[in-house]
Amino acid sequence: MIKSIMVARSDNHVIGKDNDLVWHMPADLKYFKETTSGHFVTMGRKTYQSVDKPLPGRLNIIITRQDDFYRENCLVTHSLDEALAIGEQNGQREMFILGGAQIYKLALDVADRIYLTEIHGEFEGDTFFPEIDSSIWQEVKREDHEADEKNPYPYSFVVLERY
Ligand SMILES: NC(=O)c1ccc[n+]([C@@H]2O[C@H](COP(=O)([O-])OP(=O)(O)OC[C@H]3O[C@@H](n4cnc5c(N)ncnc54)[C@H](OP(=O)(O)O)[C@@H]3O)[C@@H](O)[C@H]2O)c1
Repeated sequence: MIKSIMVARSDNHVIGKDNDLVWHMPADLKYFKETTSGHFVTMGRKTYQSVDKPLPGRLNIIITRQDDFYRENCLVTHSLDEALAIGEQNGQREMFILGGAQIYKLALDVADRIYLTEIHGEFEGDTFFPEIDSSIWQEVKREDHEADEKNPYPYSFVVLERY
């Protein structure tokens, strides 16, 4: 099973602030939906609660240390490994790790692929994506886009794979 990180990150590595995103980029939301729909997805409890409803058309697996955490129509696990094992056991070809920062930190050690959306701007934030080590990760795809009337910042859809 391919284990894929999915993240949108600014030029100064910000991914969030006050448990929310810091930009509104419909093109990235569309890309996110197209890429992850029909798959199993997993995320940290805080990222889940930033929306607090399951992403439709995907099996949502929440990672928490709490014993009694429950959300309707979601699976709850207590580690990233456990979440990924559910994907393996259910014959998934690719599974998506959706963050946030705490879960990305763990995921960078085990992921095979990163779908990185670069949002070209500098933002204030309180949550950051770790440095992507270019001796470990190879860029295999890049699609650059200008800002437009709906998307206020230039952006790039990048795919990286582990060497
Ligand atoms: N730009 C993007 O692509 C993107 C994507 C996702 C999220 N975000 C942003 O990132 C921020 C949230 O990230 P975050 O780092 O604060 O939180 P997070 O990674 O989403 O969730 C952290 C929670 O996950 C659980 N957890 C973490 N490590 C664990 C482990 N080893 N075992 C079991 N459970 C574990 C804990 O839940 P309990 O406390 O319940 O035990 C912890 O509080 C928000 O601002 C969000 O908008 C941005």
